[in-house]
Amino acid sequence: MSRLELLLLLLIPHVLVQGQSQLSYEQARQAVLTAEEELMTGGHTYLSTLEAKVDDIFMEYKLGELSQGFRNSEQNAAALHFFKAKPLIDRSGIFRFLQKMPKGAVLHLHNTASVSSKWVVQNMSYMPGMLRCTTSSGRSVLTFRRTPQEHNCQSQYIRVSEERHNSIDPQIYDQNFERLINLYTPVPELEYPTITQVWDKFQDMFDVLGDAIAYLPAFRAYHWQMLEELYNDNVMYAEIRTSCKKLYDASGRTFPRERTVQELYALNEKFTRLHPDFLGIKIIFAVFRGYDVDTIKKSVEEFTQLHESLPHFMVGFDLVGQEDKGKPLHTFLSALRDFPPTARFFFHGGETNWFGASTDTNLLDALLLNTTRIGHGYALAKHPILLNAVKTRQIAVEVSPISNQVLHLVWDLRNHPGAQYLALDVPMVICSDDPGFWNAKGLSYDFYYAIMSLAPNNAGVRLLKTLAWNSIRYSTLTVEEQTRAFQILELTWSRFIDKVLEGNVF
Ligand SMILES: *[C@@H]1O[C@H](CO)[C@@H](O)[C@H](O)[C@H]1NC(C)=O
Ligand SMILES: *[C@@H]1O[C@H](CO)[C@@H](O)[C@H](O)[C@H]1NC(C)=O
Ligand SMILES: [Zn+2]
Repeated sequence: MSRLELLLLLLIPHVLVQGQSQLSYEQARQAVLTAEEELMTGGHTYLSTLEAKVDDIFMEYKLGELSQGFRNSEQNAAALHFFKAKPLIDRSGIFRFLQKMPKGAVLHLHNTASVSSKWVVQNMSYMPGMLRCTTSSGRSVLTFRRTPQEHNCQSQYIRVSEERHNSIDPQIYDQNFERLINLYTPVPELEYPTITQVWDKFQDMFDVLGDAIAYLPAFRAYHWQMLEELYNDNVMYAEIRTSCKKLYDASGRTFPRERTVQELYALNEKFTRLHPDFLGIKIIFAVFRGYDVDTIKKSVEEFTQLHESLPHFMVGFDLVGQEDKGKPLHTFLSALRDFPPTARFFFHGGETNWFGASTDTNLLDALLLNTTRIGHGYALAKHPILLNAVKTRQIAVEVSPISNQVLHLVWDLRNHPGAQYLALDVPMVICSDDPGFWNAKGLSYDFYYAIMSLAPNNAGVRLLKTLAWNSIRYSTLTVEEQTRAFQILELTWSRFIDKVLEGNVF
């Protein structure tokens, strides 16, 4: 049946369609349901016999978990805030499946919030020389600088090792330490009643940890761990947003940004050599959107130099920070004009609940500036012309479900606009944004919400496979790199399918 006939069917019920034969009510009903299923993301993705078998198993688990949630809304992870749902997700069969499933790439991830907070406490905070101080607003700042400066600290610097040693219980000390870099609370609705409260704490956490990560030995260990956590979560490639902060070492020496990029490049080379089925990372230079036009202009110049020396590694540019508080993209047009033609924009856009406010219009400017993908695109559903452009021009939306929930755009993720993007087959990829700052790790938790909350009940392996493949297709891997990525993904995927059928996943 054609789209037109389906439309007629719903516009004028009981008309004759399909030539002269009257459809029965049940046939008409089924025709519409089938058409919607085929329209959505993955609707035409082919499944082999083995994949179809895996899909049957997957659907049994999925429908089981959903109907449990339907009967008991207090245990319905798909509808709950991640902080409340995490223990349930950790016990879920679907989650185990998603952890082992090759997920392709994560295309929206901020380096300094990428690693689990547990590792930061267990490893980085035990590195010799870490100091802590308290600012006038009561926030902690961590650093390894011997002669710290510029932190607006009110208190003296104290050695973390000494503080821990003098504490009543080092374990409790570590728990409290973790709270400095993790938004987790059992009662987010009480602790962060407004978007401003959660964003203030969130933005603060970058300042708690940022200077400690810029310490060369910590920088190396932290980013190595970032790669480990991605790899162990069966992610094969990542595009990392980073400000490329200047590094320093134990002797007090500081290094220019070129060195930061070189360090990332070297870590990436080393990691991919050790793990031939991991394609590594590329870098998107991310600048704080609160800066003035001249500062952004200088950042574009700096980016251009970095890009020219490593064009396939330093691939793009973005502006970051709370959109509602920062300046709209339109303000920066003059600063963005001299952008190198070989580089690309990857703008955050529409990470807001405001409709028609200047920040909401960032989506329009991002598209006019020829953005390659859109970060979040949460507000996109409200703009039919932009949505159409995104579909026609195949600009992928980087959907980060948990981020949007924790940062106060939506409580029940079944109401996330990503559900509409899936239904309309808008190009999209699933991303994790800042997993380390909200008690997540890797990409699987976001995939859990994607398949359990954003997707319709009957969506299974066909959709998951499409999302994984999308993440390579919409990446900035070169043509040759993409070919290799798809080869590796085909292989790891078929191994995964075998494992499920052997009973080694659920
Ligand atoms: C921290 O991690 C690095 C490498 O990832 C490892 O060599 C080191 O032993 C770890 N340190 C601690 C204290 O766990
Ligand atoms: C827009 O970006 C794409 C890459 O995403 C590039 O191929 C194309 O040339 C750009 N178009 C313009 C007008 O800059
Ligand atoms: Zn982001």
